[in-house]
Amino acid sequence: MTWWRDAAIYQVYLRSFADGSGDGIGDIAGLESRLGYLRDLGVDALWINPWYASPMADGGYDVADYRQIDPAFGTLQDAERLIGAAHQFGLKIIVDLVPNHTSDRHAWFREAVEAGPGSPARDRYHFRDEPNNWQSRFGGPAWSQVDDGQWYLHLFDSSQPDLNWDHPEVRAEFLSILRFWLDRGVDGFRIDVAARLVKQAGLPDKHEAEEAVPSFIDPPDQPDKDRPEVHEIYRDWRLVLGEYGSDRVFVGEIWVSDPERFALYLRPDELHTAFNFEFLKCAWEAGAFRAVIDRTLATHARVAAPPTWVLSNHDVTRHVTRYGRTETAFAKRVHDVPSDLALGTRRARAAALLSMALPGGVYVYQGDELGLPEVFDLPAALREDPVFYRTEGLDLGRDGCRVPLPWGGECPPFEFGKGGAWLRQPEEWRDLTAARQLGDADSMLSLYRLALRIRKSEPALGDGRMRWLESEAGVLAFARDPGFVCVVNLTDRAVGLPEGTALLASAELEDPGTGEARLPPDAAVWLRTASEVTA
Ligand code: GLC
Repeated sequence: MTWWRDAAIYQVYLRSFADGSGDGIGDIAGLESRLGYLRDLGVDALWINPWYASPMADGGYDVADYRQIDPAFGTLQDAERLIGAAHQFGLKIIVDLVPNHTSDRHAWFREAVEAGPGSPARDRYHFRDEPNNWQSRFGGPAWSQVDDGQWYLHLFDSSQPDLNWDHPEVRAEFLSILRFWLDRGVDGFRIDVAARLVKQAGLPDKHEAEEAVPSFIDPPDQPDKDRPEVHEIYRDWRLVLGEYGSDRVFVGEIWVSDPERFALYLRPDELHTAFNFEFLKCAWEAGAFRAVIDRTLATHARVAAPPTWVLSNHDVTRHVTRYGRTETAFAKRVHDVPSDLALGTRRARAAALLSMALPGGVYVYQGDELGLPEVFDLPAALREDPVFYRTEGLDLGRDGCRVPLPWGGECPPFEFGKGGAWLRQPEEWRDLTAARQLGDADSMLSLYRLALRIRKSEPALGDGRMRWLESEAGVLAFARDPGFVCVVNLTDRAVGLPEGTALLASAELEDPGTGEARLPPDAAVWLRTASEVTA
């Protein structure tokens, strides 16, 4: 079995993780100084958001040079040292590859602009004399004009021109970039916007008008998404990865809800895994979870790929906040609805145990382990996300889930670094610092550390199978062999438990030690069961 089939992968949003240089922006030195924390947390690998040379118009997802590290983060030597140091700590490194678009400062785009209409340099992007009706994923039109009047396509910000993946030079360049990082010892790649690289020939208009605030629920059959030809690209990439042994991995960012189409990306000669966004979007509701889990397992079984379980990332509202709302399903970012954060935190604790008990791999977005909520009241002038500007504030964007981590101390920047933090953390985060939580056995951090430790040592957990147990409505209960049961109570009253000894619970059980222990609402428990459960 290979490590990635059941890895616990921690997402490092580098700008906001830890600042070693004192400029208020997280960097490689800061990450290196906290590797011990990550090892002790118990994760197996780190996925690092883009660290390449970039004007940072989209937090680094606008890459100007795929073979250089942005000076704000460090140098290429720092990156190489970090990869080595992480390996020393037993942590694998997954880097973020952004193939759908470059920055408008990338040498190719500059060349294209200078070379003028009809030039071969323009063929590496999508230049046209007239735009079509596509909208940017960040709001507003997906086309912008250069000075000579031609339009170029950008599915995201105008500073992120889309590459033309029908162009052989584009394909060759990315094979070379893969090799560049594989030669430096990375263990894998997270592939940004993996379903959108190829566009329908001729870039035809869309039928439906898109909304002002793009949703995470996409209509199917769009000319800019999930085209069958995209699979050729991943087959080529897989061959390159294969030259480096069988231990390196691709994880795709694939927002494709249709299970059959999603599974195609995970065929044995394409990507290894993909983020499970259906799980992330799922409402706090037992029936909905059960359906998503069943669908996930069936989808992945089709292609023998391991599922992943994802609760949050750098693009969505933090789940502590989502789970504290009346509407807990996630379709698009909203900011004007109240959230009961105590309830959200309670549910987030239970969700952590659920996600770590399911078969496959699990993702932890930095700050999940601290129970951080979304931050809404950021000064407009400090906001950086192009989504905020392109939707004219209708969508506040993603800065609120990217606020720098609170490490310790009593006031901002909470030991993020010596020079403040590019977004100021709320004062209340003094109660959520890593240092504070380490000293509290009941904290979110203590729960994550213990759960990840048990998950690693428990033969029943990780890759493999699960079986639903009979349970009352509103309760999820499943068994994993040998001798492990997870129960999650999504009702509003305490419920009885199957026989077994509690290994870990997200909240205090009622009547513990009586043989009649009960699981309170919005809580989960892991049980050791004496008998082998037959599948
Ligand atoms: C992905 C990234 C997101 C980025 C976008 C454009 O969705 O996760 O952060 O803005 O791609 O690269």
